This record gives sequence, structure tokens and C-alpha cells, in this order.
Amino acid sequence: MTVHSEPVQAPWDRAGAGSSVDVEHEPSLALHIEDLTVSYEYRPVLWDIDLDIPPGVLGAVVGPNGAGKSTLIKAILGMVPVAAGHIYVFGRPHHRQLSRIGYVPQRTSVDWDFPTTALDVVMMGLYGKLGWIRRPGKAERQKALEALEHVGMAPYAHRQISQLSGGQQQRVFLARALVQDADLYLMDEPMAGVDATTERHIIGLLKELRSRGKTVLVVHHDLQTVSQYFDWLVLLNVRIIAQGPMHEVYTLDNLRHTYGGQIRLLQGLAGALATDGDGEAKPGDGRSAGDGGAAALGR
Ligand SMILES: Nc1ncnc2c1ncn2[C@@H]1O[C@H](COP(=O)(O)OP(=O)(O)OP(=O)(O)O)[C@@H](O)[C@H]1O
Ligand SMILES: [Mg+2]
Repeated sequence: MTVHSEPVQAPWDRAGAGSSVDVEHEPSLALHIEDLTVSYEYRPVLWDIDLDIPPGVLGAVVGPNGAGKSTLIKAILGMVPVAAGHIYVFGRPHHRQLSRIGYVPQRTSVDWDFPTTALDVVMMGLYGKLGWIRRPGKAERQKALEALEHVGMAPYAHRQISQLSGGQQQRVFLARALVQDADLYLMDEPMAGVDATTERHIIGLLKELRSRGKTVLVVHHDLQTVSQYFDWLVLLNVRIIAQGPMHEVYTLDNLRHTYGGQIRLLQGLAGALATDGDGEAKPGDGRSAGDGGAAALGR
């Protein structure tokens, strides 16, 4: 068992960060979490989480509403206090690696009435690199415009963010993450509530990030597309139910453990997941969603 000399520090307690020994832990992993527990008002919503994400994967975090998916993402970003545990990003304590993390928040958690344009939102992605003293100049503006162009939102650059549709807002946040040029991307349901065209566009961008060697971890709700889009799967329901390569983890048995009594949801998937009689799926037999089975599910 690994013994850690350095506990995770809350964001409001960073004064001593320089004094502790900056030991590398599992540097070969993009993300390494040990024994993480997070509570809101003394109620644990993440319990004893151990999680390893290798670099270069396009991973999905899947679990029912309230499972703690957003909380997990926020914990990695140092946005919520952790009751216990250790979080390492590329081998170093997460709070020292924030500039290497790009974040797309869950849409419902953003105040869309905030008076700011799409271009401003994207420029905010550059602040980490600029530092707080330098103001963004022409070059940064150009970079932000290019990112908006990349997600098909250049014509809306000067529109107030509150006056964009949900799918357009998602694209703007994606552009913000892109300009950050991060190494680890954490995205909280970037495909929620978008139309099929936008969803294809977004998954195309995610795959492009992966092909550039980035690590991408995405909270995803659609069990019918998850094995088609992603190559790594984390099943979460307060605890980690299973994690690993998609073809190993995406089984009816694991999904049943994750979703408990939500039988109807899983019944709809039964056709996508070939089972061998004991509930275990056999991915790769040509009938799983990863092999195009999602189409057979009427998507
Ligand atoms: N700021 C908060 N204060 C208190 N409880 C919270 C807070 N944020 C989330 N919770 C609770 O923590 C639990 C996990 O919430 P979280 O948002 O992480 O779930 P989730 O898996 O992202 O759900 P969803 O699929 O609905 O987005 C829920 O029971 C939620 O009610
Ligand atoms: Mg959430």
C-alpha cells in the first residue's frame, strides 16, 4: 500500500502548499484518486473513491442522478472541500495542476444571466495562462475567435451568453476549454439537451482531443451511446461500482449494480448488451452498442 506524505489541501488552505514535499504519485496516470470522501453538510455523497485514469483515454463517468458525478469533477478541480483522500493529476497534487485541467461545467450550474458575451466566456479560458495581471490582448482575442469558429459559434461571438440556446451555450463552454490547451479535460454532461447534429459535433471534438494525446473525462447520461463514444468507463453511485476499459466494464451486471432499481432504463438496454445468461454482456460480438448496436435501439 502506498503511504502518502501529503494530504489534499482545500483551496482556502493553500498557504502551506510550498512547504510540503511535492512527491510524485503514479506519474504515469492522468488522474489518480485514493480514498476520497466528500460530504455536504456531513452527508457523504462520494464515499471512499479509488480511481485511476490512464492518459490518452476518452472516458465516461456514468451513474444515476445524485450519484456524485458533478461532485467528483468539482473535487478534482478543488471546488468542493474533501473530507478525506488524495487526488493526483499527472502525478502531482491536483491543486498544483489546475492550469493543466480544462473544465466544462454542467449547464444547470451556470448563471446564464451573467452579463457577458460568448467571446468573453472563451477568453476567460485563457486567464490561467495569462495570469491575473496581464490583460488579454489581440493575440488572445484571435485565439478565442478561432476556438469559437472551431465549434461553429463564430457568428455569435458578441452575443450575450444568456441569449444563446442551450446547445449553443454548451459549444461556447467547449471553446473555452479548447483555448485552455489543457492536458486533462473534465466535462460535465456537455451533450445534455443538444440536438443530434451538435452531439455529433461535440463527440468529434472530444475524439480530436484524444487524438492529440489529451485525456478527456466526460459525465454522460445516455447509456445507449456511451460505449459507442467512449473507450473508458467509470460507473459511479456514491462509490465506484466499476472502472476500466469500456469493453470490460460496460456489462448489464455492472449497470444493474450502478442503477439499482431503475429496471426500465436497463430493460431498454438489454438488446444493446448481449448477455450470456448470467447477466454478463459480451461486448464485441457485433450486437453491443459499441459495435453499432445503438442504431438498433432507435437512436
Ligand atoms: N452544494 C450542495 N449542498 C448540499 N448537497 C449537495 C450540493 N451539491 C450537490 N449536493 C447533493 O450531493 C449529491 C450528489 O450531487 P451531484 O450534483 O454530484 O450529483 P450528479 O451525479 O452530478 O447528479 P446529476 O446527474 O443530477 O447531475 C446529491 O444528493 C445532491 O443533492
Ligand atoms: Mg451532475
